[in-house]
Amino acid sequence: MIKTSHILRVVFSSILLAFLFTNSSFGKFKPPVKAKNGMVVTVSTPASLVGVKILKEGGNAVDAAVAVGFALAVTYPYAGNIGGGGFMVIHLNNGKNTTIDFREKAPLKAYRDMYLDAKGNYIPSLSKEGATSVGVPGSVAGLIYALKKYGTMPLAKVIQPAIDLAKNGWALDERTVKGLLKNFDKFKKYPSSFKVFFKNGKPYHVGEIFKQPDLAWTLEQIKEKGRDGFYKGKVADLLVKQIKKLGGIISKEDLLKYKAVERKPIISTYRGYKIVSMPPPSSGGIILAEMLNVLENYHFNPDEWGSSTYYHKLAETMKYAFADRSVHLGDADFYPVPQKGLLSKKYAKSIFEKIGKMATPSSKIKAGNPKKYQESTETTHYSIYDKNGNAVSVTTTLNSAFGNKIVVEGAGFLLNNEMDDFSSKPGVPNQFGLIGGEGNSIQPEKRMLSSMTPTIVLKDDKPYIIVGAPGGSTIITTVLQVILNCIDFNMDIQTAIDMPRIHHQWLPDKIFYEKYAINLDTAEKLKAMGYKLADIRKSFGIEGIAEGIMVDNVNHIIYGAADPRGGGSAEGY
Ligand code: GLY
Repeated sequence: MIKTSHILRVVFSSILLAFLFTNSSFGKFKPPVKAKNGMVVTVSTPASLVGVKILKEGGNAVDAAVAVGFALAVTYPYAGNIGGGGFMVIHLNNGKNTTIDFREKAPLKAYRDMYLDAKGNYIPSLSKEGATSVGVPGSVAGLIYALKKYGTMPLAKVIQPAIDLAKNGWALDERTVKGLLKNFDKFKKYPSSFKVFFKNGKPYHVGEIFKQPDLAWTLEQIKEKGRDGFYKGKVADLLVKQIKKLGGIISKEDLLKYKAVERKPIISTYRGYKIVSMPPPSSGGIILAEMLNVLENYHFNPDEWGSSTYYHKLAETMKYAFADRSVHLGDADFYPVPQKGLLSKKYAKSIFEKIGKMATPSSKIKAGNPKKYQESTETTHYSIYDKNGNAVSVTTTLNSAFGNKIVVEGAGFLLNNEMDDFSSKPGVPNQFGLIGGEGNSIQPEKRMLSSMTPTIVLKDDKPYIIVGAPGGSTIITTVLQVILNCIDFNMDIQTAIDMPRIHHQWLPDKIFYEKYAINLDTAEKLKAMGYKLADIRKSFGIEGIAEGIMVDNVNHIIYGAADPRGGGSAEGY
């Protein structure tokens, strides 16, 4: 017979075990993916697998990035693209840091007030929807430029996996199926799109094999003829025909003239780490550096994360930086961006000195005068690291989810609506609520200002963090918080990405928060300081989806982390 004391002991130890288990696992996050040789992190698992296959076959990080870029155009129609643009930041193991700008351009026939009516009122649908919203695509030129200059493999090899995925199909994931369904009415307006993304007018199901034969044909053209396979010949003819039919202005000359540009990265420092990021026409690198320079003046207590004092420091810093963005940033080939001033530590100190204990209303914050400090001194992201220490950070986009929803008839690819990233009318916000001025006004062949922030953080001049994100204006604050989480709060890369985030962009004057970022007590304290709070999902409908890698150069371990907000995966070997 079992004694009562024994039963009691068993019950007691079960309770204790349950208690210990619950407590020891409380607060733990999924660990990052570990690898010894190389890592690819993207929002789409089939694309991550393409990247890691290229690495295993001896390709370097640039080869893998180009293969992933083409693969995402097939497996992530949300934002992966050949009809859009983006930015690539590269660190080579010989110490060279560089960037490739393949941002879309305004067509030759574009002009400053093209989205205003006769009375000067802005017509948002013209810059956001239809053929008038399309910028001259840059992705194909950018990927091919990167491969030729910094890759080791032929184009035919790195583009083949994308061709195979388009031709043979891939199993649709839940996110894509839901996204397509959400945009059913928008796709329905364009027969060329509707027939690609809906099967006989009906939605596809999760797990169904999705084939894109027209897109496979376009990719074959690129494989055979390089950039001419896209910017000249049959694909260019189809693109221009589609744009003309829908009332747009992109011409064959626009396509012929498009060139990717290699630019010097923005290099700044934060607590001894080197931050390598994207220069204009992205605002990302400069605004990230400006915010880090301001925040470097604080000492963060390890327990401060998530408190009202922490969010106050972040929000005030973000406000000043985004006020500067609205005035001082634009395509530096067309507008004198006061880059050195904006990056100056002294200028950042002058902002830090203005931050008090209470919230300063955005109406009282104006863009600063960085010129005084000129001292010498729905987008997607993927991060790649190879066995030889080369790192690539790429953010690419069609702007809105699935761009402007127009598929080029017969060529099977989606077009961007990137023209909405220009300031169509000074002071009038774009789809991300961002306000801009003359620096970002429309001019023929000018590149529209971006927030994309592909970034590589170097420790002792070797890659330490490779990170970036989609999410419009929230991109820059997402990258900022992932970096702070790693450097100031000692989090591993997965935890740093998983943690909830906040966002402030000066106007509208609100702290936008993700679920769980701000608890009730903190919210009350922030409100008492003068802040207004808003749920980011309800207000923006977007949030940053970070994809990151952290390299432990002492123990030779590469950690990869895909953002659970987006799906996808880190794949290493
Ligand atoms: N299209 C979003 C950005 O470039 O910032």
